[in-house]
Amino acid sequence: MHQTLLLLPGDGIGPEVVAEARRVAETLAPDLKIEEGLVGGASIDAYGDPLTDETLAHARHADAVLLGAVGGPKWLNAPRDKRPEAGLLAIRKGLDVFANLRPAFCFPALVDASSLKREVVEGLDLMIVRELTGGVYFGQPRGIDELGGLRRGYDTAIYTHPEIERVARVAFEIARGRSGKVCSVEKSNVMESGLFWRQEVTLAHAELGAGVELSHMYADACAMELVRAPKQFDVILADNLFGDILSDAAAMLTGSIGMLPSASLGAPGTPGLYEPVHGSAPDIAGKGIANPCAAILSLEMALRWSLGREKVADMLFAAVGKALDRGARTKDLGGSLTTREMADAIIAAL
Ligand code: NAD
Ligand code: IPM
Ligand code: MN
Repeated sequence: MHQTLLLLPGDGIGPEVVAEARRVAETLAPDLKIEEGLVGGASIDAYGDPLTDETLAHARHADAVLLGAVGGPKWLNAPRDKRPEAGLLAIRKGLDVFANLRPAFCFPALVDASSLKREVVEGLDLMIVRELTGGVYFGQPRGIDELGGLRRGYDTAIYTHPEIERVARVAFEIARGRSGKVCSVEKSNVMESGLFWRQEVTLAHAELGAGVELSHMYADACAMELVRAPKQFDVILADNLFGDILSDAAAMLTGSIGMLPSASLGAPGTPGLYEPVHGSAPDIAGKGIANPCAAILSLEMALRWSLGREKVADMLFAAVGKALDRGARTKDLGGSLTTREMADAIIAAL
């Protein structure tokens, strides 16, 4: 039976970068059955809903899902559940992909593309494991309302024992395949959910963390350390919100947010969701200049983590490095290649 890859290009530069990932997939894995669907603003425009039940069912039946990006000014004033971002959260929740792996790898050719000094980022290779289906993103109650004549807005940061244990387990497993170090971050100095996070990760480590060295850091200090001395980290374990923020910071260590892929994994045997860390980049959408590397490297992660094609994934990772070594650069990396030309350079390196 053929494996299925569902593409959900989304909005803005999403379709531009996913089209290039598709060409790479067709070159590298011609037997893959590639299907397409709508998510985000594109789905709102077609069906009035950022993620339809049909698209979610489609995703559940695929072996892997590659999503471009969602969002844009067109849908900014719609009610929250009718905004593109709601579709993204709904597919993450619907697939129960609770462990979001966001690697930050500085390709040798890009050490000077980062805004930080060469010696700070040269050889950087870290992995952020972000909890993706809980925390303040989903906690109840939340709202904007009025109490005692006072308008207010609020969210609830909440984590349960199983939610923390299962993502900590993934971080420990990943660390075992790397240098064996996990740094868990939270704000246990001010937040109850942060204190609970630290306690639960410590317990999980005693039970499931054999061979793994665990340390803890406050999330604000981690942001500072990521910029000061990022190579001290191997695996960073973070909740949904801190993981979101820290991964954007980590992106800039690698030269551009256009370089960062991600993999979101659930229970074994269920489809993984793969997406660039970047958004729909409305400022450059339609110009054909977006960097397709994050989308192509997200395909690489899909080949590795969901489709069982590690050798092909290795080849693709090497080809991206080789294209960069040969000087291929989009505008965000200081070059002038178009999205298509950048993908051409990677395909040529294959
Ligand atoms: P963004 O990542 O879209 O853009 C930030 C900056 O990075 C922009 O200047 C953009 O041009 C640049 N950039 C991003 N990706 C690039 C690429 N591949 N190549 C070159 N330059 C790139 O973040 P934003 O501006 O904060 O958000 C825009 C929209 O995207 C919002 O609606 C937001 O909610 C959404 N968003 C979606 C996702 C997602 O779908 N996974 C992620 C982040 C933001
Ligand atoms: C990301 C994005 C999303 C998030 C938004 C668009 C919902 O910033 O994937 O990093 O906050 O998770
Ligand atoms: Mn983000």
